[in-house]
Amino acid sequence: MAGIESGKQQKIDGLRITKLREQLNRHSYLYYVLDSPEIPDSEYDRLYRELQQLEQKYPELITADSPTQRVGEQPLDAFTQITHRIPMLSLDNVFSEDELEAFFKRIHDRLEFNDELEFNAEPKLDGLAVSLVYENGLFVQAATRGDGATGEDVTQNVKTIHAVPLRLRGEGFPRLLEVRGEVFMPKAGFNRLNKTALEKGEKTFVNPRNAAAGSLRQLDPRITAARPLSFYCYSTGAVEGEGLASTQNSILLQLQQWGLPVCPEVKRIKGIKGCLSYYDSIQRQRDDLPYDIDGVVYKVNELKWQQKLGFVARAPRWAIAHKFPAQEEITRISSVDFQVGRTGAITPVARLEPVFVGGVTVSNATLHNMDEIERKDVRIGDRVFIRRAGDVIPEVVRVVPGSRKEKVRRIKLPERCPVCGSDIERIEGEAVARCTGGLICKAQRTEAIKHFASRKAMDIDGLGDKLVEQMVEAGMIETVVDLYRLDLEEIAALERMGQKSAENLIAAINASRKPTLAKLIYALGIREVGEATARSLALAYGDLDSIMGADEEALQQIQDIGPIVAKHIIHFFAQPHNHKVIAQLLKEVDIQQPVVSRDRQILSGKTFVITGTLADMTRDEARELLQAAGAKVSGSVSAKTDYLLAGEKAGSKLTRAKKLGVEVIDEAGLRALLQSG
Ligand code: IVH
Repeated sequence: MAGIESGKQQKIDGLRITKLREQLNRHSYLYYVLDSPEIPDSEYDRLYRELQQLEQKYPELITADSPTQRVGEQPLDAFTQITHRIPMLSLDNVFSEDELEAFFKRIHDRLEFNDELEFNAEPKLDGLAVSLVYENGLFVQAATRGDGATGEDVTQNVKTIHAVPLRLRGEGFPRLLEVRGEVFMPKAGFNRLNKTALEKGEKTFVNPRNAAAGSLRQLDPRITAARPLSFYCYSTGAVEGEGLASTQNSILLQLQQWGLPVCPEVKRIKGIKGCLSYYDSIQRQRDDLPYDIDGVVYKVNELKWQQKLGFVARAPRWAIAHKFPAQEEITRISSVDFQVGRTGAITPVARLEPVFVGGVTVSNATLHNMDEIERKDVRIGDRVFIRRAGDVIPEVVRVVPGSRKEKVRRIKLPERCPVCGSDIERIEGEAVARCTGGLICKAQRTEAIKHFASRKAMDIDGLGDKLVEQMVEAGMIETVVDLYRLDLEEIAALERMGQKSAENLIAAINASRKPTLAKLIYALGIREVGEATARSLALAYGDLDSIMGADEEALQQIQDIGPIVAKHIIHFFAQPHNHKVIAQLLKEVDIQQPVVSRDRQILSGKTFVITGTLADMTRDEARELLQAAGAKVSGSVSAKTDYLLAGEKAGSKLTRAKKLGVEVIDEAGLRALLQSG
């Protein structure tokens, strides 16, 4: 009887095991390939543990493609070499439009074809190439590119990457299918990994590509498993049996249907115009993409044309990498200066031998603070890597290994402020050193005025950093109030100004006389009070007097405000000088009532994402409107997004929203929503 019972139970458990594997594989596919998960991670983990427990009970039912079999137990002694069935090629590069035109001419001449050719355009992922072999749909082997002819067997390590399916989905795939693609470390995972390493005092990785390479080439697969690696495929290698489509783009679609992740930004385009506009669009999105890229790749879409074009040496004639300007270059530090910020923060700035990086010539780069200098062991005279990514301030990343000359000098923090001569203090446990001069210090005053005029603060158009410096230098302004009392003739007399630009400036200053409370608070430049905190303060108190009268305890009740920020706010308003400036300022400006009152949080609980160029407002203004109505505004589209507010030239976020079925609205739609309550 017991035998029959347990036999029955075993059958039930066996069916459950199969079911769990199917479910787990499906959820991995939804997550990694379609990028639209249906269940939270916790639910996935629960199913995973249930499978693990059942498999422990019935070890004979464990299969090679079970999701529990991703991490092997034993480290290898060494990697085995694998000869690629078909060599893994490289790509030729172009860096300019002219070079791209030459590429087009070459292929058109060779094909004797004058019409527009179709291409598949893809981001050039910055990771490392691998080859994956599937036999009858089962993942059996992974190898690095190596020298192109032979690579290393990294099967155990690649198996730990959840984005790589252990079994292909569906049917119709060739009996033997070699898939090629890039293993990479997403930016978020890379930052997390380095943060943990820093906290533990361990060595950090230089960039996501090195981190990916270092993680994949581990003899112990358990280490690889702990690293946040991912994978996108971009081509096939050896294929035996039928089933592959006849264009690059449709092959990628097939691979995706079989469960292999494909980069969501790949696109079919036409001619050189299509290439250039794809290049521009990806370059604009570059900083927002969740992974590092160093350019884009165009591949002739039709395989029959590809075959006709063939290969030269180590690269195909039918594809080209169009690279972005390098974001890292090497140069020498000639000296170091110390700059004083708005809150007195002293920032060491390296003066460099000029170098072209990220598309511009750079001769200064930040060294952040003394702790960073020590951690990186940077000295004057060192050859260093400079990084300039997007609009970010160029920074000194690290010393070029082995390049140090004997003549280098250590960088020393000065004892006195280079601008006002006040003492510099460095509080225990804080990385940043500060000038103690407060508003006596001309540098702090100047920076405070720049901040006040900046776009997200009072938004005084045309009052740039240089002009503020000029006016402070000329003794025309000491505090922000002086801006509202400027004399037209005096401005016009400044170097590089004139009657017309002086008039424009006065008009812009006058236009800033009607700030919202949130903008005014932000513009005051209280330490640690960014835009979000300023908004929370404005929303909670409604007027400046109440904020100035609030005590530490009350302030800490507000969203985003902890004990440190509360102390900074109290400290700021306790300064007699600040009191005086605010009193004078309130005579010059007229604070606007919020568009949506705080009692009408009609969009509370709704999450919005904003993208593209809006016609009637900036994205910041739209965000303020939404937040004032209680909505949450997030940076990326996910299944949890309720609305995408999309303007002109919306890109990947719009595509993603459509894919996830998120409601897309324009500005008219936004207005309708705001008025609906
Ligand atoms: S195709 C025959 N497509 O770039 C074509 N490569 O410089 C071979 N890479 O080794 C490669 N993104 O590691 C291709 N969308 C993409 C790519 C890509 C990144 C890397 C790959 C390759 C290297 C060549």
